[in-house]
Amino acid sequence: MPSNTVLLTGATGMLGARIAHHLLEAEDVALRLLVRSAAFADPDKRSGLDPLVERGAELVEGDVTDAASLDRGTDGVDVVVSTLQGGREVVVDGQIALARAAASNGVRRILPSDFALDLFKASPGEHPAFDLRREADEAIGALGIEQIHVLNGAFLDMIATGAGIVEFDDEAGVASFWGTGEERFDATTVDDTARYAARVAVDASVPSGKFAVAGQQLSFGEIVSAVERGTGRRYARRSRGTTEDLRAWIADQREAGETTAAMYGTYQLYMLTGQTALDDLQNDRYPDIEPVTLAQLSAEKAA
Ligand SMILES: NC(=O)c1ccc[n+]([C@@H]2O[C@H](COP(=O)([O-])OP(=O)(O)OC[C@H]3O[C@@H](n4cnc5c(N)ncnc54)[C@H](OP(=O)(O)O)[C@@H]3O)[C@@H](O)[C@H]2O)c1
Repeated sequence: MPSNTVLLTGATGMLGARIAHHLLEAEDVALRLLVRSAAFADPDKRSGLDPLVERGAELVEGDVTDAASLDRGTDGVDVVVSTLQGGREVVVDGQIALARAAASNGVRRILPSDFALDLFKASPGEHPAFDLRREADEAIGALGIEQIHVLNGAFLDMIATGAGIVEFDDEAGVASFWGTGEERFDATTVDDTARYAARVAVDASVPSGKFAVAGQQLSFGEIVSAVERGTGRRYARRSRGTTEDLRAWIADQREAGETTAAMYGTYQLYMLTGQTALDDLQNDRYPDIEPVTLAQLSAEKAA
């Protein structure tokens, strides 16, 4: 008999789908998925949802912008896990509406859609996506419901190729990045983050607050080495500049109205300076989870 009914929002997304699979591995969990109506008719999204339903998940139609659907969705639920992604109407208004419905239905705990570097240590106004999450979390915190912030650093598998961080010029044989290439930051694969999130969601011994895990600490230089191992190519390392140069570059982007570039630049700045580094890692709480490392990912790729 399941002792925890979990409502997950975002099961059609990258992280949510993985969390759903890991929640279904637990014997004491009944899983309900809040899914937007369009996903029911979308063959791609159905192909992700159908295996979850076959394994016992219940689908409920809903949208975080539709309060009535949130009331229905959270009825009889113990824990809400949100992996929503979107703008203010989803991340702030939608998550607060979800948490309000949850609190009024007696839900014990919510995991909001954080899953990042330590966004609570970001400077307000520097990283809009972190600002939205903090704003939502603060409002949720006032509702008297347990709130656990899963923090995992960067998604290791998304940065393992250097995408958005290291620029590889194959013709010139040069790899360029900000900083010295040796600054270390936290990273965890999407699937390992999902494993930890599924465990902590229903672990009554974990208190409200940050729950930080990291698959490993790595550097931009190690990413270049991993790409070299995977491709057999060699690259000369070139720094685009110091962290102070990066700060100046971000300011220029902001001034030019390039807010997305400025945000990604700020993300890298935080990785390099350690401003949003994770503290008090909780990996040991679940020693059976052995996080995948960059070396394992690149060995898999090379095989
Ligand atoms: N640490 C990192 O490096 C890193 C990297 C990427 C993401 N993240 C974080 O991980 C979390 C999940 O991101 P993701 O990439 O998995 O997101 P994603 O793939 O874009 O999925 C977003 C999910 O939100 C759902 N959604 C959006 N608007 C909704 C609404 N109004 N009502 C109900 N559901 C709605 C989507 O449903 P539909 O299918 O109906 O659109 C989808 O299932 C986010 O907090 C994100 O910031 C972290």
